[in-house]
Amino acid sequence: MSWTPESWRTRPVTQVPAYPDPARLAATETQLRKFPPLVFAGEARELKHQLAEVAAGRAFLLQGGDCAESFAEHGADHIRDFFRVFLQMAVVLTHGGSKPVVKVGRIAGQFAKPRSADTETIDGLTLPSYRGDIINDIAFTPEARLPDPDRLLLAYRQSAATLNLLRAFATGGYADLTRVHEWTMGFMKDSKAYPRFEQVAQKIDEAIDFMRALGLNSENTPALRETRFYTSHEALLLGYEEALTRRDSTSGDYYATSGHMLWIGDRTRQPDGAHVEYFSGIKNPIGIKCGPSLSTGDLIRLLDTLNPANEAGRITLISRFGADKVAEHLPRLIEAVEQEGRAVVWVCDPMHGNTIKASNGYKTRPFDRVLAEVQGFFQVHRAMGSYAGGIHIEMTGDDVTECVGGGVAAITEAGLVDRYHTYCDPRLNASQALELAFLVAEELRTGQPAAATHAAE
Ligand code: PEP
Ligand code: CO
Repeated sequence: MSWTPESWRTRPVTQVPAYPDPARLAATETQLRKFPPLVFAGEARELKHQLAEVAAGRAFLLQGGDCAESFAEHGADHIRDFFRVFLQMAVVLTHGGSKPVVKVGRIAGQFAKPRSADTETIDGLTLPSYRGDIINDIAFTPEARLPDPDRLLLAYRQSAATLNLLRAFATGGYADLTRVHEWTMGFMKDSKAYPRFEQVAQKIDEAIDFMRALGLNSENTPALRETRFYTSHEALLLGYEEALTRRDSTSGDYYATSGHMLWIGDRTRQPDGAHVEYFSGIKNPIGIKCGPSLSTGDLIRLLDTLNPANEAGRITLISRFGADKVAEHLPRLIEAVEQEGRAVVWVCDPMHGNTIKASNGYKTRPFDRVLAEVQGFFQVHRAMGSYAGGIHIEMTGDDVTECVGGGVAAITEAGLVDRYHTYCDPRLNASQALELAFLVAEELRTGQPAAATHAAE
């Protein structure tokens, strides 16, 4: 059967909610079909080329952002604070690895959440689970938890506004490397990472002074003045994705235009399922979350279906095993991929395998375990001669208390209550994120083998 943007509807689908009024959902999707694309096919192709550079060991991927974007947290400050920590991390990694850093946010579309349980029970009352602001409301009432099609339109509008600001920040002067000192936020001055960041910033200043002496400056050198920033999200809500799937007029190919890169979650990667069917027909670069239950056989099947031409940059494998399981599971996947000669980008998500419940009931992630999974990821790749190509993290620029540990004044379990704002999973705050970047920079400085090139030319 040939692929169409709606052919996923013939396959078994998981994690898609039942709307009480399917006719209203269909009408909303029809409306979305007419809305402008959020990103262009040419941009997605450009990101794919940059990811091919990562697959070849010549660049490094930094992917991160909220676990779930929310309507309530939407605002200029939230976006700016995220973007500047992201830039700080990218500068630290570029400096540490002496390689370009490909920047991809979990932002401007990261709304729909897969859930382990369909329902949630509090004090004897059982209601449908919260599935992200694009689907229902987090408030624990029967009305709030009903899937509401209007939310698709709100999520689209918020994505457009967010992307608009990000584009302005990336190219309008905010990302100018001569302003590297201005990215430091007030509360970060107490962070353990702050003096180290100032040292890196100092070295960048010196390099910029040297370049200025040679006649290169922000006015005549776009690479100093602006950066490329891409968006990504888990393409979970397939009706929304279908409505924003468009045929590119130059190539005739279909692209998802809801974001530059989309990924398949660990719960929706069934080789015969609806999500894999949808992803098989779009030409964007895509990610696949790889958890402990992924067999090597299924991984190769997924690569056959999703990247039959073995195009480099098309597939990013995002491993998320947990600090205690990475050494057990990652080697078998690397071995299978190497044996089959597949070109992939290997990325570590050190968040989703390291979630625990604190004694006061808060869902949290110990910062030490996050660091340990990243270190394990680099160790395994070093031992196997493959290229550790990037990290994928849940982070925010806000001064939240969601992950325990890290920093000078480490967050304790009791301290989680102070500023626990996440709509889903616990995120690294700005100083934890920067601390992690320094650890990764050290790994990059230590060096690793260049990737073997398996790509079809
Ligand atoms: C996520 O990235 O927020 C997520 C749900 O991840 P996973 O599919 O790996 O559990
Ligand atoms: Co998450």
